[in-house]
Amino acid sequence: MTSRSLEDRLASELADLETAGLTRRRRVLESPCGRLATVDGKNVLNFAANDYLGLAGNAEIARALADGALHWGAGAGASHLVSGHLAPHEALEKEIATFTGFPRALTFSTGYLANLAVTPTFAGRGDAVFADKLNHASLIDAMQLAKANGADVQRYAHNDVAALEKLLAASTAKHKLIVTDAVFSMDGDLAPLPLIFALAERYDAWLVIDDAHGFGVLGPHGRGSLAHFNLPASPRILLMGTLGKAAGVGGAFVAGSETAIEYLLQKGRSYIFTTAQPPAIACALAKSLSIIENGDALRANLMARIGQLRDGLAGLPLQLLPSPTAIQPLIVGENDAAVALAKALWERNLWVPAIRPPTVPKGTARLRISVSAAHTEADIAQLVSALKELA
Ligand SMILES: Cc1ncc(COP(=O)(O)O)c(C=O)c1O
Repeated sequence: MTSRSLEDRLASELADLETAGLTRRRRVLESPCGRLATVDGKNVLNFAANDYLGLAGNAEIARALADGALHWGAGAGASHLVSGHLAPHEALEKEIATFTGFPRALTFSTGYLANLAVTPTFAGRGDAVFADKLNHASLIDAMQLAKANGADVQRYAHNDVAALEKLLAASTAKHKLIVTDAVFSMDGDLAPLPLIFALAERYDAWLVIDDAHGFGVLGPHGRGSLAHFNLPASPRILLMGTLGKAAGVGGAFVAGSETAIEYLLQKGRSYIFTTAQPPAIACALAKSLSIIENGDALRANLMARIGQLRDGLAGLPLQLLPSPTAIQPLIVGENDAAVALAKALWERNLWVPAIRPPTVPKGTARLRISVSAAHTEADIAQLVSALKELA
């Protein structure tokens, strides 16, 4: 294929996306991430970020980042296993292990990379992976890698514990790995982790839990979904958490038993073959962890705002999914209608993203309203009144 015909093919596929209303566009923020965003000189209330505790713009964390950079420099210089594992990385791993209650944790540059490491490292030829159909894209990609390694991959209907049990009971795999989001990223609902954990025990399976949206938000001291359900830090659990959402910085961790984490460190390709995060990020995250741990007032405000939004939107002709978390999805249906509603809100200085396929199933395009502890009662009231008028 000549470069011209390749260009033509790409242009034609891009035109198809445009026709289907699926072209994604980025908005450029002229302000830090926070409850207010400035875009093209316009100030909007921000309901688009995963900054659930309002920590992305936190001055103490930013100062820890700046001080960390002045002390440790700008970059790590290499991957962790070569020469890029600095004292702040090591300290952060220990702090995360203590915080989550697991014997050991390993940090990654992003949640995407953390997820890519786990499933294919723990499941290969002769093993089986059982994954919720609504798992995050990074878990789906990880599952595909496990499949390429020879693992048998099965998907069960969303949160359908009976279907999962059937698959587990029928499986003759050497090792079984159940993989689920703890809080589903586009629906905001929780996986029934106590039931899934009981199945993992009964069928001697590993349980991989992606707590990207529960960490910092749920459970006592924001320890996450396991703490929320009072589940133990069992050696059969591998807990992934991201550090760029409620923690407000960036990166991720996987926590588990001493042996499982050592195995991941030795074998996880997306851990091994990538440059370590700048050490200053670890300095910032240490500060963020202490704010999260002492952040009951932030979480109380977040829960109050979520309650206010849900009460306010009750009775709207659009369906608000039954989510108890900071992710509040309002189902619109058709792509164009979801985009039009988001645009009408934008014109009222309210930034709520429209989420379309392939991120969500066809016909379920939605507004994904992200609530933050930084939002005020007046902010939520403004959004509710605009939606009542427009929906
Ligand atoms: C459920 C879930 N897992 C993993 C990720 C990836 O995390 P990160 O953004 O740190 O790569 C995300 C967010 O994008 C997510 O929503």
